[in-house]
Amino acid sequence: MDVEALEQAALAAVAAARSTDAIEAVRVEYLGRKSALKLALREVRDRETGMTLNAARERVESAVAAREAELQRAELDRRLSEERVDVTLPLGGYPRGRLHLITQIRREVEDVFLGLGYRVVDGREVETTHYNFDGLNFPPGHPARSRLHSLFIDDDTLLRTETSPSQIRTMEAEQPPIYIVSLGRVYRRDTPDATHTPVFHQVEGLAVDEGITLADLTGTLDFLLKALFGQGRRTQFRTHYFPFTEPSIEAYVSCHVCDGAGCPVCRHSGWIEVGGAGMVDPKLFEFVGYDAERYSGFAFGWGLERIAMLRHEFPDLRELWRNDLRFSRQF
Ligand code: PHE
Repeated sequence: MDVEALEQAALAAVAAARSTDAIEAVRVEYLGRKSALKLALREVRDRETGMTLNAARERVESAVAAREAELQRAELDRRLSEERVDVTLPLGGYPRGRLHLITQIRREVEDVFLGLGYRVVDGREVETTHYNFDGLNFPPGHPARSRLHSLFIDDDTLLRTETSPSQIRTMEAEQPPIYIVSLGRVYRRDTPDATHTPVFHQVEGLAVDEGITLADLTGTLDFLLKALFGQGRRTQFRTHYFPFTEPSIEAYVSCHVCDGAGCPVCRHSGWIEVGGAGMVDPKLFEFVGYDAERYSGFAFGWGLERIAMLRHEFPDLRELWRNDLRFSRQF
């Protein structure tokens, strides 16, 4: 066999290989188990032929290895440039989040009252029975005082069941005139269902000044109801009972479905109940040391979740806690 010609052919094939796959094919053809060189080496009988063949094999092997390294480098360079990411390119914009519906309503209510000259004050979620019940004139045996209805931490401490304790704290700390709203979480020992969750939000309002009347209260609530539900809605106020207001009322808004004619949504009454209110009971003024002859006031406390449900007409309050984006993104 012509070893020199074979070597020349092998080196030419190595030089002609244009990819790592091609160089692998060259290796198999000229150095593989069935290549002419390997077969010839197997047949070798004399030392000189063996040395010639081995020297040729080594040259071809190193040529293959060198070309293979070259091609690998070239392929890597090509991939790196093809797959290069330009980190300076501007993105298509980040997905924007939005405020939770309850936060939106909370801010809306705050804005309405800031516009009327009220201040927003913070209350406490952990309260004493004094501020949550006694100072609000709850009688000793009132059901809300029971561990079945409220979440107690110890005998005298509980998670507030309403935002009304902020009335007492504000009146204790300041002198009239007082115009405040206080919004936040309240806690009741309720089993979650479509209209109850053990945690919900309320807005408390309190106005104390000389000469405040029931008409001031209903006028303010009428203003708030129209701001929240639309100027076309009508409002109505009915007598009710709360331990800390006298007289007490409940605010209603005309049904959005039938506009007062009566339908299943408003249980054929034409009206939907929104929340409680009343004139501050003079007993509270005595508790905090105000002159009950000189001052009068009103207060109200409404649920924000209830406002959300009435305004956006969704049937299950628990949606507000599920954080399913298909729900939250609607608002
Ligand atoms: N605190 C009452 C409740 O949670 C609502 C209310 C507040 C009523 C203020 C009258 C005045 O039901």
